[in-house]
Amino acid sequence: MNQTELKEKARELMKKLTLEEKIGMIHGAALFQTKGVERLGILPLKMSDGPMGIRQEFEPNRWMTVGYSDDYVTYLPCNSALAATWNRTLAREMGSVLGEEARGRGKDVILAPGINIKRSPLCGRNFEYFSEDPFLTAKLAVPFIQGVQLWDVAACVKHFAVNNQETERLWVDVEIDEEALRTIYLPAFYEALKEGGAYTVMGAYNKVRGEHCCQSDYLLRQILREEWQYDGVVISDWGAVHDTRLSAESELDIEMSVTDDFDEYCMANPLLKKIREGEIREEVVDEKVTRILMLMMRLHMMDGKRKAGTYNSASHRETALRVARESVVLLKNDKGRLPLSPEKMKRVLVIGDNAEAIHSCGGGSAEIKALYEISPLMGIHMVLGGNTDVTFCRGYCRDAARAEGDLNWQAASLENGGTIAVSEKENREKQEICTLRQQLREEAVREAANGEYDAVLFVGGLNHDQDSEGNDRSDMKLPYEQDALICRLLEVRPDTVIVLNGGSPVEMNEWIDQADTLVWGWYAGIEGGRALAEVLFGLVNPSGKLPETFYKKHTDCSAHCIGEFPGGKTVSYKEGVFVGYRYNDTFAVAPQFCFGHGLSYTDFSYEEAWIAKEEEKSVVCCRVANIGEREGMETVQVYLAPKHRKENQPVQELKGFVKVELKPKEKTVVQIPLENLPNDCEVRIGSSSRDIRCRL
Ligand code: BGC
Repeated sequence: MNQTELKEKARELMKKLTLEEKIGMIHGAALFQTKGVERLGILPLKMSDGPMGIRQEFEPNRWMTVGYSDDYVTYLPCNSALAATWNRTLAREMGSVLGEEARGRGKDVILAPGINIKRSPLCGRNFEYFSEDPFLTAKLAVPFIQGVQLWDVAACVKHFAVNNQETERLWVDVEIDEEALRTIYLPAFYEALKEGGAYTVMGAYNKVRGEHCCQSDYLLRQILREEWQYDGVVISDWGAVHDTRLSAESELDIEMSVTDDFDEYCMANPLLKKIREGEIREEVVDEKVTRILMLMMRLHMMDGKRKAGTYNSASHRETALRVARESVVLLKNDKGRLPLSPEKMKRVLVIGDNAEAIHSCGGGSAEIKALYEISPLMGIHMVLGGNTDVTFCRGYCRDAARAEGDLNWQAASLENGGTIAVSEKENREKQEICTLRQQLREEAVREAANGEYDAVLFVGGLNHDQDSEGNDRSDMKLPYEQDALICRLLEVRPDTVIVLNGGSPVEMNEWIDQADTLVWGWYAGIEGGRALAEVLFGLVNPSGKLPETFYKKHTDCSAHCIGEFPGGKTVSYKEGVFVGYRYNDTFAVAPQFCFGHGLSYTDFSYEEAWIAKEEEKSVVCCRVANIGEREGMETVQVYLAPKHRKENQPVQELKGFVKVELKPKEKTVVQIPLENLPNDCEVRIGSSSRDIRCRL
């Protein structure tokens, strides 16, 4: 059936519905579900978060998990981890796992992927997003979405648009110029919908130029429907709709929210009343319902031909493991300290709360109930086996947990401009914790200094108290006095291996020059700890590359030093198109680790590069050789640099990449097609944005 026929069929069915039935389909009738129309075989639409797996079941009308034991699922690496693989095939495979699990759990719409641009390293939800770069985001989001939708489940790309902070997330009004909007913040959405074919998109909480995104004429009608000709379903973020007329007359299709007064949602009884009184035309509802029915047909919800899916399969765990392995980024490896040789390890000391921490159950709506989660400490035990004595010292501890039983945080967050308040009690407890931390630190340092260990590993970083929906960080400092601990460890044991997990960069200036090693591990899913250990002990050669700039401090990021972050009621994106490396490279601000950086245990040489013409397209070709002793993977990156840069142009932008696997001494010619090659551009081919090996 072609699109016109599909629309016609949906319209015919829509005409059979009463006004009340149609209204039931365009707003939440439960927290994650709309109403169906039983007499016509129209099912309710069932939705679920989120990006890292299928969230546990909630009561229909309360933010309480039902507490059954059948909603444990495969915990997938976060999108930042996926982006660090720079691997399109893995993106598709991971999307397919998410789609198959969603279907296996009986869902119709999976509220993922999150594809907002990482404008500032402080945004609490960065771990859910891919990158600071629209090209990289789009090229991974597209196969991811296609993978999800293989399973007759709709991906819901979120949050449309310019939703780049949590502070005041419900109300903040983004002031942005058209060029930045078009070149940085919208392209990944465009590709996700057009190329990826995402059946649904979620409107954001924030405002853009005075209009709430979920009621925005500019974003939803002019851009989405008219320019992009999008005929999929627009779903609101939960509680992002504020006005009956504006939302009904906008291109929003479904209103969802966090409260249980479902009939009182803007697009429920209040809309019904306005239509009956002749204030709003019924046709606006007809359009929405037609699109929803088209979605249901696309998902085979009515023809008995739908795929069934499954969850927790061994192959899903295998995919999660492969993504996790390729996501680990080796940021620093002086003196070839890594990998450690497992056979030389008789006694190993592991320090740091993150070695033991479990992350799957946190982060906000991205939380899930993982079937299991292999921590780094468990992974180290698994790789080294029982002949190695592995000692664990916590070294530091977290702050007191957020108020227990606050399962309703999502609803509560809406009462506070979308931001979670820190209670006084938490502040008091912080004081007591400082003393405890000092003890833990002394104990760990004493142990590290005793000289009996073949290796000392520190595993720290962030957790979902920082990388979390509802809050932004106030700076990039490592929490819980970890800097002090790392400095001391490097004093007593200079070869301490430093491993950090987290979804966004941290300041490192207090110790980075003293550290020989630094491994970055993200939130890497169900098998994350195993993957990390495999890299540390050389079973896997790391191949992750940073999908974002790791700044020295947050004020080196353009959102902070030129624009505003987080702003107040309004936030000005004065930095325009100079986001991430586009700013740092253009204005010569050195990052700690640049965009695209990531080392390997082998070395690659870029021998020669040239441009081939294939029909109308230009293909960048480059001969790359593995000149080291180990098999490994390299991501070859292509940046275009205008020869006569206009004032508002970055010095270079990523326009292509490919990942190759090479055996020792093997060579290959990689081919990277460019969508567009302007005449006055230098083509830069490199191993990172600042390690350019060939120029054409
Ligand atoms: C988040 C969305 C999420 C929704 C449903 C909102 O608070 O912003 O990303 O999908 O809740 O849980």
